[in-house]
Amino acid sequence: MSSQASQPLRILSGIQPSGDLHLGNYFGMMRPMIKAQEEGHLFCFIVNYHALTTVRSGQELRQGTLDAAVDFLALGLDPERSIFWVQSDVPEVVELSWILSCVTSMGLLERCHSYKDKVARGIVPNHGLFAYPTLMAADILLYQSHIIPVGQDQKQHVEVTRDIAERFNYHYGETFVLPEPRIDPHVAVIPGLDGQKMSKSYDNTIEIFAEENVLRKKILRVVTDSKPVEEPKEPENDTLFLLYSLFASEAEIEDLGRRYREGGLGYAAVKDMVFEKINAHFKPFREKRQELAARRGDVERILAEGAEKARSIAAKTMRKVRRKTGLQYRKS
Ligand code: ADP
Ligand code: TRP
Repeated sequence: MSSQASQPLRILSGIQPSGDLHLGNYFGMMRPMIKAQEEGHLFCFIVNYHALTTVRSGQELRQGTLDAAVDFLALGLDPERSIFWVQSDVPEVVELSWILSCVTSMGLLERCHSYKDKVARGIVPNHGLFAYPTLMAADILLYQSHIIPVGQDQKQHVEVTRDIAERFNYHYGETFVLPEPRIDPHVAVIPGLDGQKMSKSYDNTIEIFAEENVLRKKILRVVTDSKPVEEPKEPENDTLFLLYSLFASEAEIEDLGRRYREGGLGYAAVKDMVFEKINAHFKPFREKRQELAARRGDVERILAEGAEKARSIAAKTMRKVRRKTGLQYRKS
């Protein structure tokens, strides 16, 4: 506990560069991270080793990594106030992952919902997918992080990280900070076009940087019930209403709720309103993104500087871990 109290608060989270980022990623992870810049030491990174569990094209991974970096910067991540890097630029994390895997029971990993869901959806699991939470634990523990902003689906992985850290601390003595997930209950699970959790694996996403015409078409695909215009409607659990609420003020949400219940409001009109809200919110970020995408050299420089800072912190933890585990066998 004393080691936790003596350190400034470290807030850390990562995102996979595997596909265009969507509203679930934005509200669950990206926006809370960008807001957290005000609060403590922010560690934000693109987890390309994790993406290797599913991405099979070098070109796709390379491009996805740069795209995710540009997305984050366009949304307001400030490299002056945070450490922003690409996971594989600090390969120490893979060494730590191996060391942690030796104190991680099979049962702990076998219980992970995310793994079980992926297998249930027909993904043929490789060892990397099974060991994914151990690498995530290494990400978190390498930087002695306290707070992990994520969506609900990652809660269990943070709990697994705590278990692994406790195991390690038990065997080798107090070494790692025990992290806590930070999940905003209002945006813990953003619904997708079909009302299920928005996820790139369900083909139900609304991409945050989609061009206006693509965005409009996406919103038209939101599934509703088949009540005609005149019939009163239930705002609760209606996907359009939930999406609108993410962007609207309290007064606007209340007003729309009243119009649902009164009847006389059709879903086509609500779709227009949702489109207008999302489009207005992301338009300035889209413009910023275009400008940044044309400055690839600057983006690469930011990532290289971030990696250097991250690496010096990682080296400190690894010296400790190598000494405690006996991997460091020489005196000097
Ligand atoms: P996907 O499910 O599309 O593969 P990821 O697993 O890469 O998304 O998620 C990256 C981050 O975004 C994680 O912190 C995750 O919890 C968050 N996130 C993803 N989808 C949602 C959602 N529908 N609602 C809230 N947060 C989400
Ligand atoms: N598993 C996370 C996801 O799929 C990504 C991730 C990897 C992560 N390492 C992390 C998130 C460390 C938070 C902290 O979204």
